[in-house]
Amino acid sequence: MAYMNSLETQNTDNSANSCGNAKPAPLTKPSLEFTPAIEAEMAELYEKLKEVITPQEWRVHAPYIKGINELKIQRNAVLLAHNYMTPEIFHGVADFAGDSLALAREAAKSDADVIIQAGVHFMAETSKILNPSKMVLIPDQRAGCSLADSITAQDVKNLRKKHPGVPIVTYINTSANVKAQCDITCTSANAVQVVEAMANEHNSSEVLLIPDEFLAQNVAKQTDVKVLTWAGHCEVHERFSGPQMRSFRNAEPDMKIIAHPECPPDVLEEADFSGSTAGMIDWVQDNQPDKVMLVTECSMSDNIAVENPDVQFIRPCNLCPHMKRITLPVILDTLLELKDEVCVDPEIAAAARKPIERMINLNN
Ligand code: 13P
Ligand code: SF4
Repeated sequence: MAYMNSLETQNTDNSANSCGNAKPAPLTKPSLEFTPAIEAEMAELYEKLKEVITPQEWRVHAPYIKGINELKIQRNAVLLAHNYMTPEIFHGVADFAGDSLALAREAAKSDADVIIQAGVHFMAETSKILNPSKMVLIPDQRAGCSLADSITAQDVKNLRKKHPGVPIVTYINTSANVKAQCDITCTSANAVQVVEAMANEHNSSEVLLIPDEFLAQNVAKQTDVKVLTWAGHCEVHERFSGPQMRSFRNAEPDMKIIAHPECPPDVLEEADFSGSTAGMIDWVQDNQPDKVMLVTECSMSDNIAVENPDVQFIRPCNLCPHMKRITLPVILDTLLELKDEVCVDPEIAAAARKPIERMINLNN
């Protein structure tokens, strides 16, 4: 995309933000009226989204989408969105949408002045760690994660003492403080590969994979490495169960089940495919099943349905309350006022960068 103004060319009010940078002055709020001109300008996008967004909702969303896309240009900002964002964000304002691994890679190569992370806090922290000189904003600081909240840096230090010499792999869903204590990060897209690489490199038959217990148990089934776990869970995926899958399967015998690896192992046993959110999207696109059940966060089915009109989606989804804090109105405010900035202590950031870059390089 083209960027018109750089932050250096924008007026500043010289007041420091929380990272100590000069904070540019707020921009003027665009009109949020749904005029015939906006309706006409946005008609092509609505045609794409009409199966998942009602005409009434579109009257509210369309002016925000137009306003946000204009403000991004003025701010020289890029909006990185996780696959769990709602369709009006995913298809309307995201410059890049992807799973946690793709978002980290994209953040690492971004040349925008401002990165807006439409996702949860650990994702924004990862972007900041990889771009210490850039302004990284999260539209709602309260967008957390039950996995990131399940473990502290002190917990990792205690694990090191308890398991000397055993490499520690942390799922990317953790705070910068936790990452700083670990050997390498992983995501759901590369967890098996990372665990095996660490076992080889450390000549160890055991690897600690923290904090998602179910991801670790699911990885353990795919490798000879002994995977030691931590009792953290994703509050969205832990609510799915094997018996629930079987009752859906009985009701719809010809449907495919694809499940995220943060689900309990008895869910994955019932699944035809398991993978990261990006892996799930690719699977649907490549296989074009008549009926499919995505065992993951609710917005995934909506987002994929837009581009796969011949696939019928069965939706026993669970909402992530943290992801759902990110809405078009808070993204608009973020761009207008350049808030809330994500700051990471430089020493912690330097220590946390190593395990993230190690993962990115391993994957490359
Ligand atoms: P991925 O998109 O990497 O599969 O992660 C899912 C998730 O729960 C992120 O919070
Ligand atoms: Fe965290 Fe689960 Fe929400 Fe992802 S879906 S942000 S893992 S609580």
